[in-house]
Amino acid sequence: MNFKGRDIISIRSFTKQEILYILEKADEMDHMLKKHGSLSLLKGKILATLFYEPSTRTKLSFESAMHRLGGDTIGFSEAGVSSAAKGETLADTVRVVEGYSDILVIRHPMEGSALLAAEYADIPVINAGDGAGRHPTQTLLDLYTLRREVGKLDGLRIALLGDLKYGRTVHSLAHALSLFDTQIYAVSPEELRLPREIISDLRRKGVEVVESNSFEGILDQVDVLYVTRIQKERFPDPEEYKKVQGTYKITPATIERANPDLVLLHPLPRIDEISPELDNTRHAKYFQQSYYGVPVRMAILALVSGALR
Ligand code: NCD
Repeated sequence: MNFKGRDIISIRSFTKQEILYILEKADEMDHMLKKHGSLSLLKGKILATLFYEPSTRTKLSFESAMHRLGGDTIGFSEAGVSSAAKGETLADTVRVVEGYSDILVIRHPMEGSALLAAEYADIPVINAGDGAGRHPTQTLLDLYTLRREVGKLDGLRIALLGDLKYGRTVHSLAHALSLFDTQIYAVSPEELRLPREIISDLRRKGVEVVESNSFEGILDQVDVLYVTRIQKERFPDPEEYKKVQGTYKITPATIERANPDLVLLHPLPRIDEISPELDNTRHAKYFQQSYYGVPVRMAILALVSGALR
């Protein structure tokens, strides 16, 4: 399997075998990290991070992953401090940064921006979130977490909860889950349902998707609750946000009614969807999930740069 030079724009361009291969490499990275602390696979290489939108986990775990591999990073975390503030186009920025780096990671509020960047750059481009579109590396770390913390991808019953309309992590995750034998419950307010084209694509692939606006009936039916934040910044009208704000709250009382082995995941940041009282329970795996971003992104960086096969 050869990933050298490959862009990572959408999880849909990866086969099940390729995804499983990346997860296997992430396991190797995690093992090596624990054993050696850091490696020198990407010594002398530079990762550029172009972040036009806020980020904590994605940016820092990409940077941590690059440093753990012995490489260096350059970048910005706000469009306001880049030449975008002077009116430079994304295409120009990408062509310039390509000359400074070996791999480019981009997060941008516009859907399709990562694809555009990849068209202008010859070095590998990784989509770290394009508007309400996609977030493929989050999906890889979500799948990695599911495999490690639930122990399976096939036979999984999972509820995606919250903002399924604007949440890019669930868009990518739903596509990836369709490659496995999974049952998906899509729980959201009426206004924030999973886009129709994703639902029909899932059904076309034979995935059973049950939509609802409440998690009450399914708490004891699922292995995993994948909770998401209502994406306030994507609402064209703040009044619309107010209507759905705080719709779902997972509390200790919720968990009492759930499958005793329920695993709670969340791409984070959380606002108030999961009560902090649950953080120290065996159900809460979201901080572990955010840690897995490091070994998974190490595998991704090492694979696309050709240092790992
Ligand atoms: C998510 C994102 O940016 O899409 N965060 C992340 O990358 N872990 C989720 C969110 O912002 O709600």
